[in-house]
Amino acid sequence: MPMTAEDIDEVLAVETQVQVHPWTRGQFQDSLVAEHAMWLMSKDDALVGYAVTMNVVDEVHLLNIGVPTEVQGKGHGSALLSYIIELAWHSSAKRVLLEVRVSNLPALALYARCGFKEIGRRRSYYAAFEGREDAIVMARELA
Ligand SMILES: CC(C)(COP(=O)(O)OP(=O)(O)OC[C@H]1O[C@@H](n2cnc3c(N)ncnc32)[C@H](O)[C@@H]1OP(=O)(O)O)[C@@H](O)C(=O)NCCC(=O)NCCS
Repeated sequence: MPMTAEDIDEVLAVETQVQVHPWTRGQFQDSLVAEHAMWLMSKDDALVGYAVTMNVVDEVHLLNIGVPTEVQGKGHGSALLSYIIELAWHSSAKRVLLEVRVSNLPALALYARCGFKEIGRRRSYYAAFEGREDAIVMARELA
């Protein structure tokens, strides 16, 4: 289900709960204005995941994905990412790209499970609690 401006409060509550360095309200608003694809996944009327993607020529960039703490580890992240990969494939994109903190083991597990492979590193890309942290750049090729 596409995200709208009315959903930002609910998404922001989860975002601040689950992300080490959460997006701000302004970043979600900017993404809506930029017409990035923004997805919500619900189960029994409760939010179980959200994601933001941006199309760049024939690539789809995953900008954000989150699952509420209390429903993590139940396959919702995999289901949402599989949906994004399927949409990308139908839109004739060549690959899905993303960046992830080297320390984010749950996300790395999710991306590996969905067929992403490391294609590079960006040194000191993210602010960390102490100093800076590398980003792993990953790609999921779409045959
Ligand atoms: C990353 C995230 C979206 C995964 O969502 P999820 O619904 O928990 O994922 P799934 O249940 O589909 O599990 C996917 C894989 O991650 C693994 N995983 C889930 N939680 C984990 C944890 N806390 N530690 C290690 N691995 C974990 C699962 O074991 C699974 O791998 P497997 O099938 O090989 O066992 C979720 O942990 C999250 O919202 N994290 C905070 C936000 C974030 O870091 N987003 C990504 C960067 S923008």
